Amino acid sequence: MHPMLTTAVKAARRAAGIITRASQDIDALTVKHKSHNDYVSEVDRAAEQAIIDVLLEAYPSHAILAEESGAQGDSEYQWIIDPLDGTTNFLHGFPQYSVSIALLHKGQLNQAVIYDPTRNDLFTASRGAGAFLNDRRLRVSKRLKLADALIGTGFPYRDFTHLDAYMAMFRDMLPKCAGVRRPGSAALDLAYVAAGRLDGFWEIGLNKWDIAAGCLLIQEAGGLVGDFNGDDGYIDSGNVVAGNPKVFAQLLQTLTPHLTPALK
Ligand code: IPD
Ligand code: CA
Ligand code: CA
Repeated sequence: MHPMLTTAVKAARRAAGIITRASQDIDALTVKHKSHNDYVSEVDRAAEQAIIDVLLEAYPSHAILAEESGAQGDSEYQWIIDPLDGTTNFLHGFPQYSVSIALLHKGQLNQAVIYDPTRNDLFTASRGAGAFLNDRRLRVSKRLKLADALIGTGFPYRDFTHLDAYMAMFRDMLPKCAGVRRPGSAALDLAYVAAGRLDGFWEIGLNKWDIAAGCLLIQEAGGLVGDFNGDDGYIDSGNVVAGNPKVFAQLLQTLTPHLTPALK
């Protein structure tokens, strides 16, 4: 394993320890309301700090972009961190959440870790060296047709700007695929595409820390990721379509007729 990936795994496990301990007594947590349907707990913050401490101890000159504390440092290496992806699930005791850490080097995704502490699923990828679930090499699914595909998504629940466009996409998608799931951790949804547990995924308006690690996992597992035009730029726009190559193309065909000018 690449030494930087080893460090990221150590950081993710450290954070997961904090999350798992807290999950045993969620009623005791102090929860702050950031904005409508946007909550942050002391666990998000403590997990994030633990990750940053591990990373900066090993690589003091590296830069950080983390959900709760923002950007720090200036380096060609930047770690992108979501300490707890799926906070709403976590706060309800719904066991679907993850820790997501990615490393960008000169703007290119190089290392990725997504860890699901409730299943002990450790997803890792290094650029050019493949994607893994624990020790097993990952490939995206082989399903050829959208009609047979299980598709993951995320509903709008904080920002409803694109709700109408989303509902039109959803309405069109339901009868065309085998099923749609909204598990609640975008990072884990992307890891599931890499693992072939989902054949495809789409969501509007994600953040960099939700998607960075998952995108490298999918690419290293032979899948495709794009924005609604199938192009790069999804890391910045947060509009993400992903899947095995066949399903990816059919997802785009289904979604693009519903794009509003703001989403094009
Ligand atoms: C959220 C989750 C969710 C997605 C949201 C994200 P958070 O992240 O990934 O699945 O639908 O858009 O913001 O806030 O729980 O880290
Ligand atoms: Ca997130
Ligand atoms: Ca988060």
